[in-house]
Amino acid sequence: MDVAAIVVAAGEGERYGSRKQFCDLAGRSVASRSVDAARSVAEFVVIVVPPDATSEHYGADQVVAGGPSRAASVRAGLAAIAEPVRVVIVHDAARPLASPALFRTVVNALDDTSVAAAVPGLPIADTVKRVQSADVPIVIETLDRSTLVAVQTPQAFVAEMLRRAHRDERDATDDASLVESIGGRVVVVPGESTNRKLTSRDDLTWMLASLAGR
Ligand code: CTP
Ligand code: MG
Repeated sequence: MDVAAIVVAAGEGERYGSRKQFCDLAGRSVASRSVDAARSVAEFVVIVVPPDATSEHYGADQVVAGGPSRAASVRAGLAAIAEPVRVVIVHDAARPLASPALFRTVVNALDDTSVAAAVPGLPIADTVKRVQSADVPIVIETLDRSTLVAVQTPQAFVAEMLRRAHRDERDATDDASLVESIGGRVVVVPGESTNRKLTSRDDLTWMLASLAGR
């Protein structure tokens, strides 16, 4: 098999107030939209859902139960890919508007054999400052915005590198950072401003408007 995809949808949506990935977005669930987008490049799509939500298939080839952290959910997805595969894509179900073209772009970036992973990134418009801590908001420094990118999913990986990166069961907010930590070369491809993550109710309103304007 050439390309498989893991769509992680096992979160509880605490900030949103419910399991946002199963919300209706203009007639289809957020999760099934994400699965469909992944299918544009992947021969096999596994969706990882909360343990009590495995009775539906969401349009995926396989449904597995997730874990307590996003990284644990990715590992559950990896375990479900039995066949040898060249590339594994990891995508957040909470980003239902990622385009098929973006999926192709991250996969194509792995044609360069020196690359272990490719992630979509967007330039940051705001000035970013580092503070002492969340509780002590005293500015320590202002970062150089020109070298910063805001990173999205889908993220594409040489399968062997992703498996190796997850071997010691650490947690991280994205998989690319685990690959970076084992010395893998991660490249950034242009992200999409429409590829917003559903985090709060405002994001759903924004997505509905974005779909209506297409
Ligand atoms: N996710 C997962 N397993 C977890 C936690 C998160 O599969 N244990 C998935 C979510 O379903 C989502 C993606 O990872 O598609 C990104 O996570 P996030 O946006 O943080 O979603 P939640 O964790 O559900 O939201 P919150 O952090 O507000 O609880
Ligand atoms: Mg979360």
